[in-house]
Amino acid sequence: NNLNIEVHGIIDSTNQRLMDLIRSKQDIDDGLTVISECQTEGRGRRGRSWISPFGSHIYLSRYFKSHEGLSEVAALSLVIGLAISNAIERYTGVVAELKWPNDVMVNNKKLAGVLVEAEGQSDGFCHLVIGIGINVNMPEESAELITQPWTDLQMVSKKTIDRNEFIAVLLAELDKVIDAFRVDKLTKLYKLWNNRNAFEGDVVNITTGDRVKSGRCIGIDETGALLIEEDNVISRIFGGEVSLRRA
Ligand code: BTN
Repeated sequence: NNLNIEVHGIIDSTNQRLMDLIRSKQDIDDGLTVISECQTEGRGRRGRSWISPFGSHIYLSRYFKSHEGLSEVAALSLVIGLAISNAIERYTGVVAELKWPNDVMVNNKKLAGVLVEAEGQSDGFCHLVIGIGINVNMPEESAELITQPWTDLQMVSKKTIDRNEFIAVLLAELDKVIDAFRVDKLTKLYKLWNNRNAFEGDVVNITTGDRVKSGRCIGIDETGALLIEEDNVISRIFGGEVSLRRA
């Protein structure tokens, strides 16, 4: 795979940068990657902002041209968490777990998040932006702004992380997982995801809007749906505005 990377010191959002390129109808190399030292308008899932201080973390977006359309978005975002976890294991030895749909966790604290955004176009393709935020070395003043339990790579590995070296490993792991996904979607990858499921066997509450459903978390199936078992009945939960918590 040839490497095509754009590096910024400051940017509104690396996801926004790729969305702008897509909307300007430029021809974008598949796999084009945008990285920035900080973001002024970093965004997270569910309309939240992603605190993005300078020089501390990793903010990276990668372009993916989909021949299938929006149905790929949810499945793709699942395997991105897997690639991040693989890279963390390869670089630090720490096994990070996955919280459906796409948080990367260590000791039940969030270490990285994934935001996939899509733009359909008249050219028949679906243009996807895979956004990845990884906490590396959280500054105190940023920590105060984060409302959910978090951790970072330095804390969990007890090592000083070289972000460039780590990004090289991450890009290699992303290539592997994305190539596998292109060939046969989740048919092999879902088992690897399940090996890292942070909620495996736990009783969970799943909130969609104002509806709460509970059951035992079994893992994902080949379509990327989350399987929840209650009274011997298995339900399949699909992505979207769903949040998962231990009961
Ligand atoms: C989440 O809410 O868990 C997803 C966080 C995604 C943050 C990354 S940082 C790089 C990319 N650019 C953005 O504006 N967001 C994503």
